Amino acid sequence: MVHKVKGAVVRSKGAPVTLETILVPDPGPGEALVDILTCGVCHTDLHYKQGAINDDFPFLLGHEATGIVSAVGPDVTEVAPGDRVVLNWRAVCGECRACAKGQPQYCFNTHNAAQKMTLEDGTELTAALGIGAFAEKTLVAAGQCTKVDPEADPAAIGLLGCGVMAGIGAAINTGNVKRGDSVAVIGCGGVGVAAVAGAALAGATTVIAVDIDPKKLERARDLGATHTVDSSAVDPVEAIRELTGGFGADVVIDAVGRPETYKQAFYARDLAGTVVLVGVPSPEMTLELPLLDVFGRGGSLKSSWYGDCLPSRDFPMLIDLYRQGKLDLDAFVTERITIDQIEEAFDKMHSGSVLRSVVEL
Ligand SMILES: NC(=O)c1ccc[n+]([C@@H]2O[C@H](COP(=O)([O-])OP(=O)(O)OC[C@H]3O[C@@H](n4cnc5c(N)ncnc54)[C@H](O)[C@@H]3O)[C@@H](O)[C@H]2O)c1
Ligand SMILES: [Zn+2]
Ligand SMILES: [Zn+2]
Repeated sequence: MVHKVKGAVVRSKGAPVTLETILVPDPGPGEALVDILTCGVCHTDLHYKQGAINDDFPFLLGHEATGIVSAVGPDVTEVAPGDRVVLNWRAVCGECRACAKGQPQYCFNTHNAAQKMTLEDGTELTAALGIGAFAEKTLVAAGQCTKVDPEADPAAIGLLGCGVMAGIGAAINTGNVKRGDSVAVIGCGGVGVAAVAGAALAGATTVIAVDIDPKKLERARDLGATHTVDSSAVDPVEAIRELTGGFGADVVIDAVGRPETYKQAFYARDLAGTVVLVGVPSPEMTLELPLLDVFGRGGSLKSSWYGDCLPSRDFPMLIDLYRQGKLDLDAFVTERITIDQIEEAFDKMHSGSVLRSVVEL
């Protein structure tokens, strides 16, 4: 059976998001059909719309979602109809060279649904990050469903499906932030503020939030920043050095992903410190740095895909911390909107007025 549902689609580079009827097949082997409850609007959806990820239009957007499994394919054992799930884009294969080395968080062959969702005329859709959850139903690989506590607010925990997990993981997994560390985060949207919260959770004693928008800095303070720097007004490298005894921070996280913010991160880091790039650059961007500085300053320059998370390990752990009041996921949900308000949510993302808009389906 094929299910006809509404979904938010971008047909070509820069085109507006349109609500279309999409056809979602019943799950085949290894697949699960999910009734979506909520899906957050992430900056990566905007990157897709702008053609900055790839050219495989039309895209079915949305990838930060919770839902209820409504059907599973014949051989699926990990989830069953009725399960409350957060969708993930790291369904690990268990067989690639990363998985074989016991590092499934780097899996090089993650699973998505084998069947395609389509428009009514049969045009195949590319689901954003293999999820496509700005839709009433979506089809994913069963491993993309992480079973979670059905009591927790779906709008809040759904954000673990991408941005909040990427940010927290950039701090606790990739950056390996430890008790007593100093951490600076450049760019305090949903991802950056999550990195601030992650650094605070890990016990960092100096957490410096940097943004060009003062509204973002206020929220970063609520979520654990000990200091804030408005980099539209002052040089962030100098400001971070001043706040860290003149040395720079142990870990600097770039949650913007532009050459200029990466350079700030590089020079705002202490000798032997760590830079973590979690913001996603666009294809035309290049980076120039004196190689002698790369060598001479030591330490490590890392990139963080999805916060190097393992969904089955990290989502339930973070939901436990949320339920214990140690991680304020509610604070990330600025507004709850309907599926026809995604374009407005992109505008608000630019204007800095929201941390996350969450679509309720
Ligand atoms: N690595 C991953 O797995 C992963 C996952 C999700 C999102 N992302 C990426 O993370 C980035 C941030 O996503 P988001 O959803 O938080 O976006 P967002 O638009 O909500 O936030 C971006 C923030 O950066 C600030 N900013 C912009 N230019 C700046 C500058 N020059 N200096 C300082 N601050 C600046 C903005 O004011 C805003 O607060 C995006 O590139 C997104 O694609 C990466
Ligand atoms: Zn693998
Ligand atoms: Zn995302």
